[in-house]
Amino acid sequence: MAKSPTFVCAECGATHPRWSGRCDACGAWNSIQEEAPLATGPAKKTLGGSKGRAVALMDLATEEAPPARTGSGMEELDRVLGGGLVPASALLVGGDPGIGKSTLLLQATAKFAEAGLSCVYVSGEEASAQVRMRAQRLGLGQAPVRLAAETNLRDILTTLDAERPDLAIIDSIQTMWADNVEAAPGSVSQVRSAAHELVSFAKRRGTAVILVGHVTKEGQIAGPRVVEHMVDTVLYFEGERGHQFRILRAVKNRFGPADEIGVFEMTGGGLREVTNPSALFLSDRESRAPGAVVFAGIEGTRPVLVEFQALVAPSPHSQARRTVVGWDSGRLAMILAVLESRCGIPFAGLDVYLNVAGGMRVSEPAADLAVAAALLSAREDVALPSDMVVFGEISLSGALRPVSQTENRLKEAQKLGFSQAALPERSTGSAPEGVSVRSVADLTAFVGEMF
Ligand code: TYD
Ligand code: MG
Repeated sequence: MAKSPTFVCAECGATHPRWSGRCDACGAWNSIQEEAPLATGPAKKTLGGSKGRAVALMDLATEEAPPARTGSGMEELDRVLGGGLVPASALLVGGDPGIGKSTLLLQATAKFAEAGLSCVYVSGEEASAQVRMRAQRLGLGQAPVRLAAETNLRDILTTLDAERPDLAIIDSIQTMWADNVEAAPGSVSQVRSAAHELVSFAKRRGTAVILVGHVTKEGQIAGPRVVEHMVDTVLYFEGERGHQFRILRAVKNRFGPADEIGVFEMTGGGLREVTNPSALFLSDRESRAPGAVVFAGIEGTRPVLVEFQALVAPSPHSQARRTVVGWDSGRLAMILAVLESRCGIPFAGLDVYLNVAGGMRVSEPAADLAVAAALLSAREDVALPSDMVVFGEISLSGALRPVSQTENRLKEAQKLGFSQAALPERSTGSAPEGVSVRSVADLTAFVGEMF
């Protein structure tokens, strides 16, 4: 029986019964493409299927020790991995084209090779000579890494089967194609099927496999999201154009904490680890500028200080602008509404711009109070003390809620020379020496005290 074609979203992989201009599942426009159905028939008993073996959970504990992790020696990477690379795990490293994924992985592979793993780097985008040239430029010319320039999945699997490496890098999953799938390279079915084969190879042979995935804009090529559910660990490499900082963020990790970040700086000689990101993010601060507020945040297990900058100006437009970089625009709207209805401070007719300095992206609600402080400071043209950090969550009633890890936030602030902190009342933990704390019950009290 001939199956009818299916329509698949290249952004998120959702299937639809018919074509439409917008995917209901993820909201992407123009991302739905027609794909030939996979040739699947009923499983045939006569084809010699073998019995699967079930093992008692209790036996496993004695049969196999927990997998030994291998650290790369790049502390920023190892932390994001949850301590190191787990054998037989499948990872996805996603990011915009040109952000530095190949550079990062080449450097990491060289480190893993030095740590004793046998590594194969498969490039589908560059010839081996080009990869070697890049490695030489990065000072990694002598690293014992084996290179292959190949896009045919069958050839790659044959090579990997013969080499039996501990680690294989596939750069990128969108350039791989399986000759048994009738679809163009980069389509959802090709990307899925290649990822599926490579992940099963990882599990079968005990090789750790890292898939590189480009985040795509145009929707014709499948994005990394379509393989996120197949892998154990999903890392995204992010950064703003024009900034040297790069952030490696774990969004899913079966073998470690999610939300952990590693910070790097792109230099002429490749990526350099940034072990003290707070100092970097605050490095070009103009002290005592109205609208600038330092937020003591937590990224994963690590405190990070960043500066929120706000600009508030009369709007020439009939509808005032709200522009946010590095924070959630919905959350900004909420804080503006709370300031307006609970504190009586209107923002109607005013354009509001909010930016997180240094190209960092903050997602913690703990930044609410720092955002409110930046908005008020910009609106009133009053600078906050330059040695002050701010944090706390704002509820719709205007009350301030304590947030986690108060002590770690304050310690990081102290380490960077801050001596005051404004935070919610009822926060637990003691302030380190030399940091004076102002506990505030609600937003109205905060406004009264600071402005
Ligand atoms: P690349 O790793 O090729 O990005 P991706 O694999 O994510 O597409 O990085 C490309 C960019 O990085 C390119 O714009 C040049 C820059 N770069 C440096 O600044 N220094 C370096 O040492 C290297 C290798 C690249
Ligand atoms: Mg690349």
